[in-house]
Amino acid sequence: MIISSTTAMTRRCFIIGHPVAHSRSPLIHGHWLAEHGLAGSYERVDVPPAEVRGFIARLRAGEFVGGNVTVPNKEVVLPLLDVASETARAMGAANTLWMEGSTLRGDNTDAYGFLAHLDACVPDWARRTGTALILGAGGAARAVIHGLVERSVGRILLVNRSPERAVELAASFPRTVEARPWQDVAELVGESDLIVNTTSLGMHGQPPLEIDLSALRPGTIVDDIVYVPLETPLLAEARRRGGIPVDGLGMLLHQAVPGFERWFGVRPQVTPELRAKLEVDI
Ligand code: ATR
Repeated sequence: MIISSTTAMTRRCFIIGHPVAHSRSPLIHGHWLAEHGLAGSYERVDVPPAEVRGFIARLRAGEFVGGNVTVPNKEVVLPLLDVASETARAMGAANTLWMEGSTLRGDNTDAYGFLAHLDACVPDWARRTGTALILGAGGAARAVIHGLVERSVGRILLVNRSPERAVELAASFPRTVEARPWQDVAELVGESDLIVNTTSLGMHGQPPLEIDLSALRPGTIVDDIVYVPLETPLLAEARRRGGIPVDGLGMLLHQAVPGFERWFGVRPQVTPELRAKLEVDI
């Protein structure tokens, strides 16, 4: 999406992914550019993993001030950076890049986005959370766990379809994260104060996430990182049972904040107007 015509003053930003046509990030950054009256652009660029190195050369040459990286390039880009943040190194993946002079820097803002949205929805969530239950063991689960550990959640239970991936991820967070069998989910639900779905189950076009929530205690926070649909079957069921549903759209919006601030020097806000704009499209 070209927000304004390219001039010497226009700061160009990108999102690189493959495919990338579905990305909603241009809507978010386009909204903030217009809101702040900034001359800038945020463009979708379809870049397969084998072409990431070539694209990064264009960034270094000054064509862009920075941008976002999405699937499947978040891991590929990491070794190409001059400086990766501690979080990006812990994730093994970067989603936000920017030039600082001639230095290419990268960060991973997924954990930040997850925490910022949870803070906005349930301000005292960390105090209420003795035990968290994480469903899934991919990159999103790693980001969520990183965030929970940062906020000192003391006990994190992890279940995954492929148990070996849960065991492997849990091993990165010794003493805090315990891998448990997927078959025990119904029982673990009753022990948990916060439940987070990090799998793609429940997303349009994917099978539903079928877990028994009959043991859910009222007041348990249920956070689904899926945002299409906005209210997943998991969130609807949690709501019916007195749980506190937290949808995935907010994480998407908040993870975009640090990048925009780096590129344009203005810290943008996640407002109801921005959310409404994205919701129309879902
Ligand atoms: P991401 O980086 O977005 O987290 P990922 O690394 O592909 O993506 O991880 C996807 C997660 O969704 C995994 O935990 C995956 O389980 P497996 O490790 O067993 O593959 C989970 N997932 C995807 N489809 C699933 C399905 N049909 N049933 C159960 N879990 C599923």
